[in-house]
Amino acid sequence: MENIQKVRDFFNASAHDFDLIYTAQKGRLRRFLDSYLRCDVYERYDLALEECADIANKHILDVGCGSGRYCVELAKHRPAKVVGIDIAEKMLQIAKALAQKNKVEDICEFLRVDFMQHRFEEKFHISLGIGLFDYIDAPVAFIKKMREITLEKLILTFPSKSTYRMLIRKIRYKLKNCPLYLYNRKEVEEVLAAAGLSDFSIRKLSGTDNCGDFFVVSTLHDCR
Ligand SMILES: C[S@@+](CC[C@H](N)C(=O)[O-])C[C@H]1O[C@@H](n2cnc3c(N)ncnc32)[C@H](O)[C@@H]1O
Repeated sequence: MENIQKVRDFFNASAHDFDLIYTAQKGRLRRFLDSYLRCDVYERYDLALEECADIANKHILDVGCGSGRYCVELAKHRPAKVVGIDIAEKMLQIAKALAQKNKVEDICEFLRVDFMQHRFEEKFHISLGIGLFDYIDAPVAFIKKMREITLEKLILTFPSKSTYRMLIRKIRYKLKNCPLYLYNRKEVEEVLAAAGLSDFSIRKLSGTDNCGDFFVVSTLHDCR
Protein backbone atom coordinates (compact mmCIF):
# COMPACT_ATOMS: atom_id res chain seq x y z
CA MET A 1 0.00 0.00 0.00
CA GLU A 2 1.28 3.48 -0.85
CA ASN A 3 2.29 5.79 2.00
CA ILE A 4 -0.42 8.31 1.17
CA GLN A 5 -3.08 5.61 1.44
CA LYS A 6 -1.68 4.52 4.82
CA VAL A 7 -1.78 8.10 6.13
CA ARG A 8 -5.33 8.56 4.81
CA ASP A 9 -6.50 5.33 6.48
CA PHE A 10 -4.81 6.30 9.72
CA PHE A 11 -6.51 9.71 9.88
CA ASN A 12 -9.88 8.45 8.69
CA ALA A 13 -9.77 5.97 11.55
CA SER A 14 -8.60 8.49 14.15
CA ALA A 15 -10.32 11.73 13.03
CA HIS A 16 -12.67 12.04 15.99
CA ASP A 17 -9.96 11.08 18.45
CA PHE A 18 -7.57 13.62 16.91
CA ASP A 19 -10.11 16.43 17.09
CA LEU A 20 -10.74 15.70 20.76
CA ILE A 21 -7.33 17.29 21.43
CA TYR A 22 -8.96 20.64 20.73
CA THR A 23 -12.13 20.19 22.77
CA ALA A 24 -13.10 20.20 26.41
CA GLN A 25 -15.68 17.45 25.88
CA LYS A 26 -13.54 14.62 27.17
CA GLY A 27 -12.90 12.73 30.36
CA ARG A 28 -10.53 13.81 33.08
CA LEU A 29 -7.83 11.31 32.15
CA ARG A 30 -7.85 12.32 28.50
CA ARG A 31 -7.77 15.99 29.51
CA PHE A 32 -4.74 15.34 31.70
CA LEU A 33 -2.98 13.31 29.00
CA ASP A 34 -3.57 16.00 26.38
CA SER A 35 -2.36 18.79 28.62
CA TYR A 36 0.70 16.77 29.62
CA LEU A 37 1.65 14.93 26.44
CA ARG A 38 0.32 17.26 23.77
CA CYS A 39 1.16 20.67 25.15
CA ASP A 40 3.18 21.47 22.03
CA VAL A 41 0.01 21.04 19.95
CA TYR A 42 -1.51 23.90 21.93
CA GLU A 43 1.73 25.88 21.81
CA ARG A 44 2.01 25.63 18.02
CA TYR A 45 -1.68 26.54 17.67
CA ASP A 46 -1.20 29.78 19.64
CA LEU A 47 2.00 30.66 17.80
CA ALA A 48 0.54 29.99 14.36
CA LEU A 49 -2.49 32.16 15.11
CA GLU A 50 -0.19 34.92 16.37
CA GLU A 51 1.66 34.74 13.06
CA CYS A 52 -1.67 35.21 11.30
CA ALA A 53 -2.70 38.24 13.34
CA ASP A 54 -3.36 40.50 10.37
CA ILE A 55 -5.19 38.53 7.71
CA ALA A 56 -8.12 40.75 6.78
CA ASN A 57 -8.89 40.28 3.07
CA LYS A 58 -6.06 37.79 2.65
CA HIS A 59 -6.11 34.33 1.10
CA ILE A 60 -4.95 31.58 3.44
CA LEU A 61 -4.10 27.96 2.66
CA ASP A 62 -4.00 25.26 5.33
CA VAL A 63 -2.35 22.10 3.96
CA GLY A 64 -3.29 19.01 5.96
CA CYS A 65 -6.03 21.03 7.65
CA GLY A 66 -7.35 17.98 9.50
CA SER A 67 -10.50 18.76 11.47
CA GLY A 68 -10.33 22.42 10.46
CA ARG A 69 -9.47 23.94 13.82
CA TYR A 70 -7.04 26.45 12.29
CA CYS A 71 -9.20 27.19 9.24
CA VAL A 72 -12.26 27.99 11.30
CA GLU A 73 -10.42 30.14 13.83
CA LEU A 74 -8.66 32.05 11.03
CA ALA A 75 -11.94 32.50 9.15
CA LYS A 76 -13.31 34.46 12.11
CA HIS A 77 -10.72 37.18 11.38
CA ARG A 78 -12.34 38.02 8.06
CA PRO A 79 -9.81 36.89 5.52
CA ALA A 80 -11.03 36.86 1.92
CA LYS A 81 -10.85 33.08 1.91
CA VAL A 82 -9.43 30.11 3.79
CA VAL A 83 -8.78 26.94 1.81
CA GLY A 84 -8.22 23.78 3.84
CA ILE A 85 -7.04 20.69 2.06
CA ASP A 86 -6.71 17.19 3.37
CA ILE A 87 -6.65 13.62 2.10
CA ALA A 88 -8.84 12.25 4.91
CA GLU A 89 -12.58 12.52 4.29
CA LYS A 90 -13.45 11.96 7.95
CA MET A 91 -11.27 14.87 9.01
CA LEU A 92 -12.95 17.11 6.43
CA GLN A 93 -16.42 16.09 7.61
CA ILE A 94 -15.53 17.42 11.06
CA ALA A 95 -14.00 20.55 9.52
CA LYS A 96 -17.09 21.33 7.46
CA ALA A 97 -19.41 20.82 10.44
CA LEU A 98 -17.20 23.06 12.57
CA ALA A 99 -17.24 25.80 9.91
CA GLN A 100 -21.03 25.63 9.76
CA LYS A 101 -21.34 25.70 13.54
CA ASN A 102 -19.19 28.84 13.61
CA LYS A 103 -21.01 30.38 10.64
CA VAL A 104 -17.86 30.74 8.55
CA GLU A 105 -18.70 28.22 5.84
CA ASP A 106 -18.90 31.06 3.30
CA ILE A 107 -15.22 31.87 3.94
CA CYS A 108 -13.89 28.31 4.28
CA GLU A 109 -13.43 25.98 1.36
CA PHE A 110 -12.44 22.39 2.07
CA LEU A 111 -10.97 20.13 -0.58
CA ARG A 112 -10.25 16.44 -0.32
CA VAL A 113 -7.04 16.23 -2.33
CA ASP A 114 -3.43 15.20 -2.01
CA PHE A 115 -1.56 18.50 -1.98
CA MET A 116 1.10 17.22 -4.37
CA GLN A 117 -1.49 16.09 -6.93
CA HIS A 118 -3.65 19.20 -6.83
CA ARG A 119 -3.34 21.96 -9.40
CA PHE A 120 -3.87 25.36 -7.76
CA GLU A 121 -5.37 28.17 -9.81
CA GLU A 122 -4.69 30.84 -7.21
CA LYS A 123 -1.99 32.07 -4.84
CA PHE A 124 -2.19 32.51 -1.10
CA HIS A 125 -0.73 35.17 1.16
CA ILE A 126 -0.03 32.70 3.96
CA SER A 127 0.23 28.91 3.82
CA LEU A 128 0.27 26.64 6.83
CA GLY A 129 1.53 23.09 7.19
CA ILE A 130 0.99 22.27 10.86
CA GLY A 131 1.43 18.74 12.18
CA LEU A 132 1.84 17.70 8.56
CA PHE A 133 5.49 16.97 7.86
CA ASP A 134 5.35 14.02 10.27
CA TYR A 135 3.70 12.17 7.35
CA ILE A 136 5.42 13.56 4.26
CA ASP A 137 8.05 11.34 2.63
CA ALA A 138 9.43 13.98 0.22
CA PRO A 139 9.36 17.25 2.21
CA VAL A 140 11.64 19.25 -0.11
CA ALA A 141 9.38 18.93 -3.16
CA PHE A 142 6.38 19.52 -0.91
CA ILE A 143 7.72 22.79 0.51
CA LYS A 144 8.89 23.94 -2.92
CA LYS A 145 5.33 23.59 -4.13
CA MET A 146 3.98 25.42 -1.08
CA ARG A 147 6.44 28.21 -1.78
CA GLU A 148 5.38 28.42 -5.43
CA ILE A 149 1.80 29.22 -4.49
CA THR A 150 2.48 31.45 -1.48
CA LEU A 151 3.17 35.17 -1.55
CA GLU A 152 4.14 36.22 1.97
CA LYS A 153 4.67 33.58 4.60
CA LEU A 154 4.95 29.87 5.28
CA ILE A 155 4.20 28.51 8.73
CA LEU A 156 5.35 24.92 9.18
CA THR A 157 6.05 22.45 11.95
CA PHE A 158 8.40 19.47 12.01
CA PRO A 159 8.32 16.76 14.68
CA SER A 160 11.42 16.33 16.76
CA LYS A 161 13.20 12.99 16.85
CA SER A 162 15.21 13.72 19.92
CA THR A 163 13.51 12.01 22.83
CA TYR A 164 12.46 8.60 24.08
CA ARG A 165 8.81 9.67 23.76
CA MET A 166 9.32 9.98 20.04
CA LEU A 167 10.70 6.46 19.98
CA ILE A 168 7.46 5.30 21.59
CA ARG A 169 5.49 7.30 19.03
CA LYS A 170 7.48 5.68 16.23
CA ILE A 171 6.64 2.19 17.52
CA ARG A 172 2.97 3.14 17.97
CA TYR A 173 2.71 4.40 14.39
CA LYS A 174 4.55 1.33 13.07
CA LEU A 175 1.94 -0.87 14.76
CA LYS A 176 -0.81 1.21 13.13
CA ASN A 177 0.90 0.97 9.73
CA CYS A 178 1.29 4.73 9.41
CA PRO A 179 4.59 6.21 8.19
CA LEU A 180 6.25 8.79 10.43
CA TYR A 181 9.18 11.10 9.68
CA LEU A 182 11.10 12.81 12.49
CA TYR A 183 13.74 15.54 12.41
CA ASN A 184 16.57 17.17 14.27
CA ARG A 185 17.27 20.87 13.85
CA LYS A 186 20.02 20.34 11.27
CA GLU A 187 17.72 18.21 9.15
CA VAL A 188 15.00 20.85 9.31
CA GLU A 189 17.51 23.48 8.19
CA GLU A 190 18.68 21.26 5.33
CA VAL A 191 15.15 20.59 4.11
CA LEU A 192 14.24 24.30 4.20
CA ALA A 193 17.42 25.30 2.37
CA ALA A 194 16.98 22.56 -0.24
CA ALA A 195 13.44 23.83 -0.81
CA GLY A 196 14.89 27.25 -1.62
CA LEU A 197 13.92 29.07 1.57
CA SER A 198 16.50 31.53 2.86
CA ASP A 199 14.63 33.77 5.28
CA PHE A 200 13.31 31.57 8.06
CA SER A 201 13.26 31.20 11.83
CA ILE A 202 13.19 27.87 13.63
CA ARG A 203 11.88 27.72 17.15
CA LYS A 204 11.98 24.55 19.21
CA LEU A 205 8.75 24.17 21.15
CA SER A 206 9.28 22.87 24.62
CA GLY A 207 6.68 20.11 24.71
CA THR A 208 6.81 17.46 27.40
CA ASP A 209 10.34 16.15 28.02
CA ASN A 210 11.58 18.64 25.45
CA CYS A 211 10.00 16.67 22.61
CA GLY A 212 8.18 19.66 21.10
CA ASP A 213 8.04 20.36 17.39
CA PHE A 214 10.25 22.69 15.44
CA PHE A 215 8.08 25.69 14.59
CA VAL A 216 9.17 27.38 11.38
CA VAL A 217 8.17 30.73 9.95
CA SER A 218 9.54 31.65 6.56
CA THR A 219 9.07 35.09 5.08
CA LEU A 220 8.95 34.93 1.32
CA HIS A 221 10.59 37.45 -0.94
CA ASP A 222 9.69 37.85 -4.53
CA CYS A 223 12.71 36.11 -5.97
CA ARG A 224 10.79 33.60 -8.09
C1 LIG B 1 -1.88 15.59 12.46
S1 LIG B 1 -3.05 16.12 11.28
C2 LIG B 1 -2.89 17.89 11.53
C3 LIG B 1 -4.18 18.61 11.29
C4 LIG B 1 -4.14 20.11 11.51
N1 LIG B 1 -3.14 20.76 10.70
C5 LIG B 1 -3.93 20.41 12.97
O1 LIG B 1 -2.77 20.70 13.34
O2 LIG B 1 -4.91 20.38 13.74
C6 LIG B 1 -2.21 15.91 9.71
C7 LIG B 1 -3.17 15.94 8.53
O3 LIG B 1 -2.43 15.99 7.30
C8 LIG B 1 -3.17 15.30 6.32
N2 LIG B 1 -2.27 14.99 5.18
C9 LIG B 1 -1.20 14.16 5.18
N3 LIG B 1 -0.62 14.14 3.96
C10 LIG B 1 -1.33 14.98 3.17
C11 LIG B 1 -1.22 15.39 1.81
N4 LIG B 1 -0.27 14.91 1.00
N5 LIG B 1 -2.12 16.29 1.32
C12 LIG B 1 -3.11 16.78 2.13
N6 LIG B 1 -3.26 16.42 3.43
C13 LIG B 1 -2.39 15.53 3.95
C14 LIG B 1 -3.71 14.09 7.09
O4 LIG B 1 -4.80 13.48 6.46
C15 LIG B 1 -4.06 14.70 8.44
O5 LIG B 1 -5.41 15.07 8.52
